[in-house]
Formats: sequence, structure tokens, C-alpha cells
Amino acid sequence: MAHDFRPYRDEIIVSSKAGYNMWEGPYGEWGSRKNLIASCDQSLKRSGLDYVDIFYSHRFDPNTPLEETMGALAHIVARGKALYVGISNYPVEETRRAHAILKSSGVPCILHQPSYSMLNRWIENDKTIDACGELGIGMIAFSPPAQGILSGKYNTGDTDGARGTSNNPFLKAANIRPETLDAVGKLAAIAKARGQSLPQLALARVLRRKEMTSALIGVRTLAQLHDNLGALQQLDFSPDELSTIEAATTSGMMDGKPCWK
Ligand SMILES: NC(=O)c1ccc[n+]([C@@H]2O[C@H](COP(=O)([O-])OP(=O)(O)OC[C@H]3O[C@@H](n4cnc5c(N)ncnc54)[C@H](OP(=O)(O)O)[C@@H]3O)[C@@H](O)[C@H]2O)c1
Repeated sequence: MAHDFRPYRDEIIVSSKAGYNMWEGPYGEWGSRKNLIASCDQSLKRSGLDYVDIFYSHRFDPNTPLEETMGALAHIVARGKALYVGISNYPVEETRRAHAILKSSGVPCILHQPSYSMLNRWIENDKTIDACGELGIGMIAFSPPAQGILSGKYNTGDTDGARGTSNNPFLKAANIRPETLDAVGKLAAIAKARGQSLPQLALARVLRRKEMTSALIGVRTLAQLHDNLGALQQLDFSPDELSTIEAATTSGMMDGKPCWK
């Protein structure tokens, strides 16, 4: 049964995306005009909404001209089906091109949604984060807790109900490198010294960058939500803390850069 968002329509921001596999056949994923417009229509039908606030191209499509993908986003705005549009998982050059094409259509690219955490810094390494700052594109990070790895549960073994112990396709506890767990252990000590939980440190480190407009919080329990909201109590970092975090994470990094295969 579809949820009825209508009483809250003016109080919450609703976003949707298109680009990953949604239905069989050539138009069921990637960045064709047909995929984006059909996906937006389907999202609106499922949610019972007239429009979404933000509609994203979920990933860059190397086999579709970027002009077509961005043209579809502009069309969705012109038709009143989204107020704003954004991109997700776009590396730096594709981000710059997407921004330029949208700008030439009179539609601003307002948001980039990349994965980003203390253990996944691909947007720092390829300078996507700098490009967004320079171009005035806001950023909203997904996976600041790295699927829960940055909660410390895979170090302590407190994993009852955790996704890494189920059949989750994105996280298998056995695939977490010992070097990553070692880094998490060191980060837990830093969090403790700051008077924060580890998930709070993970969120604060992501929100520290001025380019970061917001961070997505994925939770399984209400207690996790309350814990994460506590990050807002301590967002500042001393230079010493930042360099200790750098030293702790160097060898435990995970490769988060999107690939298109
Ligand atoms: N743009 C994209 O391509 C993309 C891709 C993925 C996700 N997203 C967005 O990001 C949102 C969140 O993604 P996600 O849930 O997959 O990943 P996530 O935010 O990295 O991980 C969420 C998990 O982290 C653990 N966690 C969070 N806070 C915790 C706390 N305080 N204490 C202990 N554990 C904590 C929980 O794991 P356990 O359940 O194991 O306890 C929770 O289910 C999604 O809803 C989606 O909107 C976007």
C-alpha cells in the first residue's frame, strides 16, 4: 500500500533517483531519457505525489551522451515533476560536464550525492568535492558509517541483527579487511577521547567539510537514530584530532570510487 505523504508535503524534502536496475530490458537502468522520465513517473505513481523536490541521475552512463541524461533532468523540471535536480556517484569530470550542460538549459545542478566516509575518500582523492565547492553544487554524503563498519560492531562482535551477518549483498563481515578493522579500532579511541560515539565521529568528520550540505543517515533502530543525531553536539575538530584521524585511517581505506562496469 502506498504511503500517504500529503499531510507532510510542505514539511519534508522528498527525493528520488534513476539509473540503477529497476526493470528488465534496455531502458530499465542507466541514463537514457526513457529510463529517467519513466523512472520519475513510476516514483510519483508509487508515492502518490504530484512532484518530488529533488530528482537525481543516480550514476553516470558511459554509453549515453551526457546531454541526453541532463536533458531528461531538465525536461522533468520543466514538466513540474521535480523542483530541482542533482547527480549521484558522478566523478569529477562528469560532474563538471553535467553542471555545464544543465546550466546551459537554465536548470541548476543543485546537489551531488556521493559515498563518503572516513574510510572512503574518493571524492577527496579525485577532487569531486573541490569541484562541487567551486561550482556551487551542494553535497549530501551517503554511507558516512560505511554500512555500519564505522560503528565498531565488527570489532567488538556486537553484531546481533547487523547487516554484515545477514545475506546483505553490499556488506559481508568476512570481506572486511583486517587493516580496516584495525583503523576502526584506532578511530574508536579518538571518538572516546572526544566524548563521542564512533558513529557520531564518523558523521562529524563528513560534515566538517564546508562543501557538505548534509549527510544521509541510514539506521535500523531508533537508538541508532538518536545516537547519530548526537553528532551535532560536537562538530569541531582540532588540527591534532584531524591528523590523528589521518594517521589512523591510512592503511584501512576502502575503495569507494564508482565504476561503470
Ligand atoms: N546514491 C547512492 O548510490 C546510494 C547508495 C546507497 C545508499 N544511498 C542512500 O543512503 C541511505 C543509507 O544507506 P545505507 O543504509 O545502505 O548505508 P549506511 O548509512 O552506510 O549504513 C547504515 C547502517 O549503519 C549502521 N548504523 C548506522 N548508525 C549506527 C549507529 N549509531 N550505531 C550502530 N550502527 C549504526 C546500521 O547497520 P546495522 O543495520 O548493521 O546495525 C545501519 O543499518 C539510503 O537510504 C539511500 O538513500 C545512496
